[in-house]
Amino acid sequence: MSDLRVLILAAGKGTRMKSRKAKVLHQVGGASLVEHVVAAARSVSSLVSVVIGHQAETVRALMPEASFVEQEEQLGTGHAVMIAREQLSSHKGDLLVLPGDVPLISNETLKAFIAFHTQGGYSASVMTADVDDPHGYGRIVRRGDNELKSIVEHRDATPEILKISEINSSIYVFNTPDLFEALTKVRNENSQSEYYLTDVIGILGAQGRKVGAFKSPRADEILGINTRKELAAIDRIMRRRKCESLMAEGVTIVDPDSTFIDAAVQIGPDTVIHPSVQIHGKTIIAEDVTIHSFTRIANSRIGARSTVLDGCVVVDTTLGEDISVGPFAHLRMNTKLEDGVKVGNFVEIKKSTLGSGTKSMHLAYLGDATIGKKCNIGAGTITCNYDGINKNPTVIEDEVFIGSDSQLIAPVKVGKGAYVGAGSSITDDVPPESLAIARGRQIVKEGWVRDRKKK
Ligand code: UD1
Ligand code: CA
Repeated sequence: MSDLRVLILAAGKGTRMKSRKAKVLHQVGGASLVEHVVAAARSVSSLVSVVIGHQAETVRALMPEASFVEQEEQLGTGHAVMIAREQLSSHKGDLLVLPGDVPLISNETLKAFIAFHTQGGYSASVMTADVDDPHGYGRIVRRGDNELKSIVEHRDATPEILKISEINSSIYVFNTPDLFEALTKVRNENSQSEYYLTDVIGILGAQGRKVGAFKSPRADEILGINTRKELAAIDRIMRRRKCESLMAEGVTIVDPDSTFIDAAVQIGPDTVIHPSVQIHGKTIIAEDVTIHSFTRIANSRIGARSTVLDGCVVVDTTLGEDISVGPFAHLRMNTKLEDGVKVGNFVEIKKSTLGSGTKSMHLAYLGDATIGKKCNIGAGTITCNYDGINKNPTVIEDEVFIGSDSQLIAPVKVGKGAYVGAGSSITDDVPPESLAIARGRQIVKEGWVRDRKKK
């Protein structure tokens, strides 16, 4: 397979998506359609080119390592390949062509298809499938067992041809020089006035070249996406696959139907994922972790034996081992909790570090704070990190006790082992091992109510 290159057609707008966004940029299983296709293509060749058009710059930015050809006007799939002619002119081997909207295609199927093409000595091969509802697809007109005569587009087909349930997947392998020679003969005299890549098949057949038809054993893999309904259906298949592969590796997923885990997520054995959890991006979760319902985790790391309780949002955060978070906690922007930290309900932590064994159990906002080990952050503690212009840091050293309902007006530092009395507004640094109280003194007027009633 060393002499194989890949061309992915991803320039189209995808009118039926009714979107401002190009079709191949829509996401399933946590990545855009075209990223999934490029990943599959890379399993068979390192030379992958992508034809781009609609929102070309956005597609380019997603995959800086691929090479691109720009099709400014989308005049059909045949035209898209023609545009790549210059880039492929020196290539004498085979060319695998894939549409950008088949995210389920697997490495195994592509490898079997390429082997079929090579062993059969074909000039071109088409991956086909039998489907229940062939509506909209190009139909395969066969010639014998392994060969085909032509492909007829749905819109251009006679009633007789519309009865054929074997469809064109839009996945092909071509002998590259044969392909470009046949492409010069393709005309746009059809219902859409487009240059169809499918016409190449008929042209090669008429020239007496052998064209192979490889029926995919897994028809669902070649499902293309044209509508939002299909997008949701394929997302569901991908999610199911991801859950199944994690379960096979020892992860408990209580309800795979309501669990959303992106393709790149890694999870260790004996971790338990409760219903209605979303885990996105490059998240890595260790073993023996428990994630409870209605929690969303993105681009984070969670250490062994930790628990995230119900209803948490954990984004761009690193959790050590044996941690407990939630319920209803919000951790974000490079927050780091070291081993054994406990964070309770209604606690928001932004861009802060909590040292091992520290606890913040109720109703707090900790932002831009560096907090040491074994601290106790009382209920209702707020780091006042924003002065209206700048974000300022709070430093809390090891073994500090912050009494409930205290405000730490940053920049400020509380030294090792110090105590802050409940209800304090701390504006000045607190030296180690001291007690700071910063609140109005209590006044008690004995009998005040009784006296008022008498008046
Ligand atoms: C195509 C096939 C059809 C097949 C179906 C499978 C043709 C003429 N028809 O139809 O036989 O059953 O796929 O899904 O090829 N593209 C470009 N530039 C263009 C036009 C399209 O890059 O000028 C790209 C699109 O972005 C898309 C792919 O080619 O990724 C397929 O195009 P699409 O318009 O979806 O083709 P279909 O009409 O579905
Ligand atoms: Ca299509």
